[in-house]
Amino acid sequence: MKEITVAELFAGVGGFRIGLEKASVSYRTIWANQWEPGKTRQYAFECYDQHFGPSLTNSNEDIAIAKRDCPKVDLLVGGFPCQDYSVAHSGDAKGIEGKKGVLWWYINDILKARRPKYVLLENVDRLLKSPSKQRGRDFGVILRCLYDLGYYAEWRVINAAEYGYPQRRRRTFIFAARKRTTWYRTVLNMGSDNPRRILFKDGFFADQFKVTKGEGLVREYDLKVKSDGTDYADLVDFSDSFAAAFENTGFMLNGKVYTSTTTPYKHKQMVLGDILESDGVDEKYFLGSNLEKWQYMKGAKRIERTAANGHSYVFSEGPIAFPDPSDRPSRTMLTSESSTNRSTHIVEDPKTGNLRFLTPVECERLNGFPDGWTDTGMPEKFRYFCMGNALVVPLITRMGKQLLTITAKD
Ligand SMILES: C[S@@+](CC[C@H](N)C(=O)[O-])C[C@H]1O[C@@H](n2cnc3c(N)ncnc32)[C@H](O)[C@@H]1O
Repeated sequence: MKEITVAELFAGVGGFRIGLEKASVSYRTIWANQWEPGKTRQYAFECYDQHFGPSLTNSNEDIAIAKRDCPKVDLLVGGFPCQDYSVAHSGDAKGIEGKKGVLWWYINDILKARRPKYVLLENVDRLLKSPSKQRGRDFGVILRCLYDLGYYAEWRVINAAEYGYPQRRRRTFIFAARKRTTWYRTVLNMGSDNPRRILFKDGFFADQFKVTKGEGLVREYDLKVKSDGTDYADLVDFSDSFAAAFENTGFMLNGKVYTSTTTPYKHKQMVLGDILESDGVDEKYFLGSNLEKWQYMKGAKRIERTAANGHSYVFSEGPIAFPDPSDRPSRTMLTSESSTNRSTHIVEDPKTGNLRFLTPVECERLNGFPDGWTDTGMPEKFRYFCMGNALVVPLITRMGKQLLTITAKD
């Protein structure tokens, strides 16, 4: 079987790597980078390195510097944050600059330098609509960069719960294939004259993440030409004026974008109750006498407040189910999962019926990580933090299987 070399950026505790290795032994990660800004102890990296190292090819340095060490690979993967991707002219009039510390630009630099055949990225669903004052600009900038570098790109917003996993975690996945790969030629043949086929049936995501067919309007956008018929002068011009209503599914081929809304087929759902530990949960995870505090925090509120300028207003928030229902997939896990926060999950312990927090192992299960994956010497609150950052591993396994069928034809 052909080997597929991988570089994993923003590796966290290795969600992409576990998912790909589950899909096939063909995937070989030859370089990974993970660095938590501003922290002396690098717990996520230590966890990654304990499982997959120790190795000189695991880099624990700011990607702004480490990007030069990324080798040439077949597949580049990474989950990165939604930030402001606008660009401006730099000092010398011809240069173009994204904002410092915006991680997309380091990915873009690596793509430019190493030209991987395939790219698989993860971001939050908000990416498609940002920023609120110029909807779609940020994602448009990413697509335009991929077009400039000679890639086909496809995206899908996937809610893990809708494909049978126990957490309602909604993320944007982006797959890109470079010109001259078989997949690029395949989509070219499927044709931009039949975008529905790629969107609903035969695209990269459509095969593994089935949707009900033939629905909805397909919107089209051009990344090269403005609505007045003139070409965008450069990326700055593009970033200043591009806006679009990107739906949850779409692709970009040759600078043309097609996007539509898809609805997943109904799957048998896993629910929160399926992943709860049924026995032996330590006393420290139980709420004890704090019940009223939590009831208040989770409840609906209307509170009169006064702003700094003296203006008074009513702060209101709706209720959150308390405890979290065990017969439904859970709400999204956040990095704040271990803190006293209304979004922290509270569940009914299956054995005693008493209320308690999720255990670190249950958080790992919600993301499809092996039990105890983050039990590598980090304090518990970081185990929760790492899972709040991580992705739902079995989704990557499905994508890895799909990519395998594609690369087999290269
Ligand atoms: C969304 S998380 C990705 C989690 C990962 N997919 C997983 O399964 O654990 C993004 C990661 O990027 C890391 N990161 C943030 N800024 C970075 C930088 N400048 N250089 C390298 N890594 C960075 C964070 O520490 C975090 O672990």
